[in-house]
Formats: sequence, structure tokens, C-alpha cells
Amino acid sequence: MLTYFLSNIEELRTLFSIELPNVVPPRDFARFPRYGLARYAPGLRRIRTTGGAGFVGSSLALAFKFNRSTAKVIVLDKLKRRGSELDLEQLRRSGVEFARGDVRVSDDVAAIGPVDLLIEASAEPSVHAGYDENPSYLIHSNLVGALNCLEQARRHGWTFVFLSSSRVYPIALLRALPLERTATRFVLRSESDLPGVTPPGISEQFPLSGNRSLYGATKLAAELLIEEYKTIYGVRELINRCGVISGPWQMGKVDQGFIVLWMARHLLDGPLAYTGFGGEGSQVRDILHVDLYDLLAG
Ligand SMILES: NC(=O)c1ccc[n+]([C@@H]2O[C@H](COP(=O)([O-])OP(=O)(O)OC[C@H]3O[C@@H](n4cnc5c(N)ncnc54)[C@H](O)[C@@H]3O)[C@@H](O)[C@H]2O)c1
Repeated sequence: MLTYFLSNIEELRTLFSIELPNVVPPRDFARFPRYGLARYAPGLRRIRTTGGAGFVGSSLALAFKFNRSTAKVIVLDKLKRRGSELDLEQLRRSGVEFARGDVRVSDDVAAIGPVDLLIEASAEPSVHAGYDENPSYLIHSNLVGALNCLEQARRHGWTFVFLSSSRVYPIALLRALPLERTATRFVLRSESDLPGVTPPGISEQFPLSGNRSLYGATKLAAELLIEEYKTIYGVRELINRCGVISGPWQMGKVDQGFIVLWMARHLLDGPLAYTGFGGEGSQVRDILHVDLYDLLAG
């Protein structure tokens, strides 16, 4: 278990006096079925992932390389997220090329090409980002960065995949959903007047009016631009509004990556506490495994 869930890097290092890359095994893609991205776009030869040293970006880059060993897979990353530098050795060993760059800088993104597919997985992914601090980095990295990537996709005819978020949905509307408390969990009742609400959850038909956090706003704003680029310029695009994602090599922290953070705390006998909704742990979330082939294939 300890080798599977990775979090609190410094804490682990201190406790066990270990070099983590030697302890956490490389991701084993042979364990997963070989479908997904290969089926989605069979002709792909050159793939670039921005934010490719991060949790999702590196998983996708490694999955591409595993599934099509002759493809050229390159990741661009600023190494802003603490711990993303630990991924570089695994990427290198797997034949994935690394370039250090900043998506906020259009020249860095322009230096990418040529590629067939650009997966934009760079971000400041914390929903708390920008609160009690200057929101400039969040907005420039998430929105201007996405636009820089999209613009290159337009200019060169690249297919564009964007990792959006369930955080695009407005907070007040989500809080107002009719919940019923059962013995162990809240259950979503179906009598809501709002479109897109069913007992299993909410869909893309859910309304989008209202505030959603700065992070969610950057994602929704990027989605709107992608829609325009698709309509006006014919950019081939795929947007995924991921919910909570978890799995190996996530550098979990309090405000992002809570599953691995909890797992590490549990393993290290650290404090565990539910937060929100009365702190009773009745809230229910879907957790996606980071192997996202299926979703992209859809
Ligand atoms: N992990 C989740 O639960 C989750 C859920 C929904 C959506 N997403 C989205 O998926 C994408 C990937 O998230 P993640 O969990 O892998 O986050 P992550 O923090 O692990 O990875 C993001 C990567 O982007 C890099 N980065 C940050 N700013 C950059 C910049 N200006 N230029 C270049 N690189 C930069 C970071 O160094 C990091 O390696 C993000 O767009 C995020 O919003 C994640």
C-alpha cells in the first residue's frame, strides 16, 4: 500500500530515510487493458502533454508511450507542483522526452511542435487557489496557458484535449441540491427542478450560472474559448470535466489530492478528519482512477 499511494513527500522521506523514486514502483500499464487512446486516434505519432510531469499528465504520457512505443511523446512542464520533479526519472526511463517550459509564455508553447495531439494537463489545480492571495498565477496559468495551447492547436491543426473540472458547476446550486441523509451517506433525491439532476449525480445539462471558485472559473472560461475555436476554426477538441482523480504518483496535499493525503496519513498514523457538511463523512464523491484511457476513448 505504501508503494501505491504517495503523499507528504518530506514526511515520508524523513520517517523512512528513503529516496522515494527507488521505493515507489513505476506504473505498470500492462495491468490495464490496452484500449482507449489507441482506439480513439489510431494515427497518432507525436503527442505532447503540457503539465506532463504532473499526476494526470505524466500518467497519460506514460500510457501513450506504453501503448505505442514508436510514438514520440514529449512533456512540457514548469515543475511548479512540488514533487513533479520526481516523475522525470520515470518519464526518461520510459522514453518520454521532457522540456521545461511555462504555458503562460506563448513562445514556450510554440516551441512544442509539430505534434498530432496536444493534451493540456498543466494547471494550478487547487480549488482554494487565489483565495487570500493574488490570483494572477492561477488565472494566467490556467486560462492564458490553456489559450496559448489552444492557439497552437488552431495554427497547426493539432487535436486538442483539455482537462477541465467538475468545479465548473456553481457552488450555490450544488449546495441547494435536495439531499437525504441515510444511515451512512447523503443520497441525492431526484425531485430537483434543475436540469441534469438524477440520483447518480449531475450531468452536463446542469445550469452554469453563479459563482464556482476562481479555479472553476478559469476552467469554464477556457472551455468557452475552446467551444469558439471549435466552431470558428474547426479545432478538433475533447473536453473532460473530471471529478476527483486519484491513483499512484499523486502528490496529494490538503487542498488537492485528498485521497492520497488521507491514505498517507492513515499509513503514518497521522490525524484523519472529515471536513465540510457537518464533518460527519456522509458526503459521497465519485473517484476516478488516473488511468483515463476509457474517458478519452469515449
Ligand atoms: N487531480 C484531480 O483530481 C483533477 C480533477 C479534475 C481536473 N483536474 C485537472 O487535471 C489537470 C492535471 O491535474 P493534476 O492533478 O495532474 O495536477 P498536478 O498539479 O499534479 O499537475 C499539474 C502540472 O502542471 C505543472 N504546471 C503548473 N503551472 C504550470 C505552468 N505555468 N506551465 C507549465 N506547467 C505548469 C505543474 O508543475 C504540474 O506538474 C489539471 O488541469 C487539473 O485542473 C485534476
